[in-house]
Amino acid sequence: MKIGLLGFGVVGRGVYDITASRDDMQVAKVVCLEDIQLPDAEVTRDFQKVLNDETIDTVVEAMGGLHPAYEFVRSAIEAGKNIVTSNKALVATFYDDLLPLAAEKGVAFRCTAAVGGGIGWLSELERVRRVEEVSMVGGIMNGTCNYILDSMTRLGLDYGEALRQAQSLGYAEANPSTDVDGIDTWHKLILSANVAFGVSLEKASVPAAGISRISAGDIANFKANGYTCKLVSHGTQKDGSYTAYVQPTLFPQGALEAAVPTNFNLITLDGEVSGRQSFYGQGAGRYPTAYNVVQDCVSILAGKGFYCPYGKKVSADNSVKLRYYVRGGDNWIAENAAETWGDAVVTNPVAVSEMHAWLKNNPAAFIAAIAE
Ligand SMILES: NC(=O)c1ccc[n+]([C@@H]2O[C@H](COP(=O)([O-])OP(=O)(O)OC[C@H]3O[C@@H](n4cnc5c(N)ncnc54)[C@H](OP(=O)(O)O)[C@@H]3O)[C@@H](O)[C@H]2O)c1
Repeated sequence: MKIGLLGFGVVGRGVYDITASRDDMQVAKVVCLEDIQLPDAEVTRDFQKVLNDETIDTVVEAMGGLHPAYEFVRSAIEAGKNIVTSNKALVATFYDDLLPLAAEKGVAFRCTAAVGGGIGWLSELERVRRVEEVSMVGGIMNGTCNYILDSMTRLGLDYGEALRQAQSLGYAEANPSTDVDGIDTWHKLILSANVAFGVSLEKASVPAAGISRISAGDIANFKANGYTCKLVSHGTQKDGSYTAYVQPTLFPQGALEAAVPTNFNLITLDGEVSGRQSFYGQGAGRYPTAYNVVQDCVSILAGKGFYCPYGKKVSADNSVKLRYYVRGGDNWIAENAAETWGDAVVTNPVAVSEMHAWLKNNPAAFIAAIAE
């Protein structure tokens, strides 16, 4: 396999290092914006050099962002090259465009590192689907949020301190919105549900609530009632009906999710035959992530394409009812309140869709579902 590598940052450099000692694949060209020299690959700023090189059969995209990643990946598919990418935003956003095109052109498209970093989650879903249907996917998919919530819970930091610490350790970006507002987890849920259920989820039907409004007082309320807060995704399918949402969720202190430390991920599926399986590990980092990019290249050499056939467009129906912790409520919340926890309330069961619609109009509030 001859690889054209796009991007030479955290992930791209890791891919270059891991492939350097392999006989079955070689990074032939690297597209990057810095002036660097590599012993055995041509470095260029010009993507056309990769596109026009007929000896390059596979493009590994590790640039991030939507543009020009989308244009580069699309034209590589058009040119008959296989794609491996770690870019969940790209795949979730352009799923309906890129996946059918890859199938039409007969090229492989893999993105295992995009969800779970070093955890082989999407490739495991592919394996599970060979034998059984998956009824549920979800869990802790964002190490930055888990690091912040864990620091607040275990070390007693307030939100701002925990975020600054995550930034100084390189876990959080200078602009942390994609992580703390739940957008990264939302991309990963959409991709996971699409693969697990063999569908294409209507993105507008999948709501996401993040953690940026959480306070030290909320954490004290959770502790006093025996709960730990995590940002989790949740997707289900049953009899042709789907749910999918991202939200802070309170787990009893003995639950597996409650024990996940620092920046780790814990992703779970329910299989109709195998039952519940959870996958725990490093959701990010140079070598864990690059490891799964290289695994994808090996899978392509073994003849694999995407994880599932491209499926029909479906909307999530989030009418399922959950109890919610709400701080910063209004009259509607007061009408639905069942208990008081400090300065917040816990509601009677409320439809997930209704609660997220309310939060949109009350963005200063903090909500967390209580795990059933
Ligand atoms: N880091 C992780 O642990 C991790 C884990 C899972 C998935 N991912 C995903 O992997 C992707 C890459 O992440 P990363 O952490 O490796 O990002 P990164 O460190 O910022 O690296 C991206 C690289 O791409 C280069 N680049 C950007 N635009 C370019 C262009 N138009 N032409 C050529 N090069 C360009 C950047 O150059 P400049 O720096 O000069 O702009 C940088 O070297 C993202 O989609 C991310 O979500 C990352």
